[in-house]
Amino acid sequence: MKKIRLLSLLISSLLFAQNVPKEILDTGERVSQELLQQLGSKLKQEVSANGLVKAAEFCSANAMILTEEVNLHQLEGTSLKRISLKVRNTANAPQEDERKVLESMQKMLKKGKLGAYLIEDDGRFYKYYKPLLIKNELCLACHGDLSKNPKLSQFINERYPQDKATGYKMGDLRGAVLVKIKK
Ligand code: HEC
Repeated sequence: MKKIRLLSLLISSLLFAQNVPKEILDTGERVSQELLQQLGSKLKQEVSANGLVKAAEFCSANAMILTEEVNLHQLEGTSLKRISLKVRNTANAPQEDERKVLESMQKMLKKGKLGAYLIEDDGRFYKYYKPLLIKNELCLACHGDLSKNPKLSQFINERYPQDKATGYKMGDLRGAVLVKIKK
């Protein structure tokens, strides 16, 4: 019973998003793109210069730092992070409401109805969710079937003993960038 109420609350807060000011949507899009471009370009550069294992080491040492750097550029009251239902880095685990949004995204994706973003209004903050799909074969090198690459697999298992972020296929929902914007 309680669960159903939470879910319908969530859906109504997502629908309420239609009244969200345009500046909020613009900020969410700009900030999430800033992170994705930073991470994406550095990742590609590392893979082509030093190979997958080094690139994985690079991600592990720098992804959180890069995320914090993007955070530091933002106005007070705006912050971002990456979240997923199956995390590699436990620091990226979603909060309860965020997990529900990710689950809704998963359902929307299945029905072919997942848009470019979702907005949640939690009272004090708008939360702008930018879905991250596996659109690129490169993602599968480190989030697909790792048994093809024993060295990489060994590094990931040692560095992230609780890793859940493998077994993905093209088109899967990998997670989201979440931009929190104070109202
Ligand atoms: C060279 C290996 C490698 C490649 C290629 C790679 N990742 Fe990752 N990914 C990692 C590692 C290592 C982490 C954990 C470090 C971190 O980001 O905090 C991670 C973390 C993530 C996270 C944060 C959530 C979590 O599980 O901790 C997301 C989202 C993500 N990757 C998406 C992608 C997407 C989308 C692609 C393709 C564009 C991709 N990754 C390609 C290695 C890789």
